[in-house]
Amino acid sequence: MAAAIPKPPSLAGKVAIVTGASRGIGEAIAFDLASRGASVMITYTSASSEAKVENLIARIGSLKNGSSAASVKADLALPSSPQQIVDATLSAFATETIHILVNNAGIADNKPMVDMNAGDFDSTLLLNLRAPFFLTQGVRKHFPSTGGGRVINISSVAARGGFPNGSVYGASKAGLEALTRSWASEFGPAGHTVNAVSPGATQSDMLDQLDKAFVDSLRKSTPMENRLGTGQDIADIVSWLASEESRWVTGQTIAAAGGCIESIVIVVSSIAGEIFVIRDCSCKFI
Ligand SMILES: NC(=O)c1ccc[n+]([C@@H]2O[C@H](COP(=O)([O-])OP(=O)(O)OC[C@H]3O[C@@H](n4cnc5c(N)ncnc54)[C@H](OP(=O)(O)O)[C@@H]3O)[C@@H](O)[C@H]2O)c1
Repeated sequence: MAAAIPKPPSLAGKVAIVTGASRGIGEAIAFDLASRGASVMITYTSASSEAKVENLIARIGSLKNGSSAASVKADLALPSSPQQIVDATLSAFATETIHILVNNAGIADNKPMVDMNAGDFDSTLLLNLRAPFFLTQGVRKHFPSTGGGRVINISSVAARGGFPNGSVYGASKAGLEALTRSWASEFGPAGHTVNAVSPGATQSDMLDQLDKAFVDSLRKSTPMENRLGTGQDIADIVSWLASEESRWVTGQTIAAAGGCIESIVIVVSSIAGEIFVIRDCSCKFI
């Protein structure tokens, strides 16, 4: 395999936190931020992910580009975890400043709404919405006083798509996009940006839990190359949002989805005076 081309050190000296960076999209984001020079705190929660985290830290160590990495095991469903992550980051990198927060950790409890109980509802909202809220609150206190802080929330096309069996997940991501816009207003005067990235179907353990025929229909109807996204497809957008070059972009949700920006197309047609509404549950560029 050809050696990877080193990336410009656009994030040298920056301290970043990526939640849920043990695998999937978060792992790709953490590695990409480090490959651009950042010091990255990797958060995770499962004992089964410890070896993956050690491996990621070793890969970042082998970059030898001035970046560094550390990890903290914290269940983000617990109210104490946001402060634990902030404290671990300040301690690991001997700093009082955090520049970049990527709220990536998430769960998707895909069930028909009639089968969801209050516990299912709460666990999705706790991780996908409450945890980003309080982690951002904790990190905001450590943003540089001169501006340049970055919050990047990982949303989903499900926030707007109306996928079947994904109502609470979609609502949690729609809520995250609402937080994104409000925080952009609150943090903007101090020179910090807040944006969301909205992936489409992206290869990961989470995607593997979905119905194969459904995933295949999403893949086939994704305009760009009719393929699934990769973690790197998402990480490149996140790293740009983390950089100085994105300074005039805030409060936005950027779809990183190969052209799939909505998942349901409502087609209204009229035949012989009758109105028909056709609900096409696939991924279309509209
Ligand atoms: N994959 C897709 O197609 C897709 C599409 C749109 C949006 N997204 C979003 O992208 C983000 C990453 O998804 P992914 O597909 O990479 O997911 P994934 O492969 O399932 O990885 C989930 C990550 O979140 C962490 N996590 C799960 N529960 C946690 C908890 N209670 N406390 C702390 N960390 C926890 C996991 O840590 P452990 O390894 O320790 O369990 C893991 O690092 C999510 O917000 C997801 O909603 C994904």
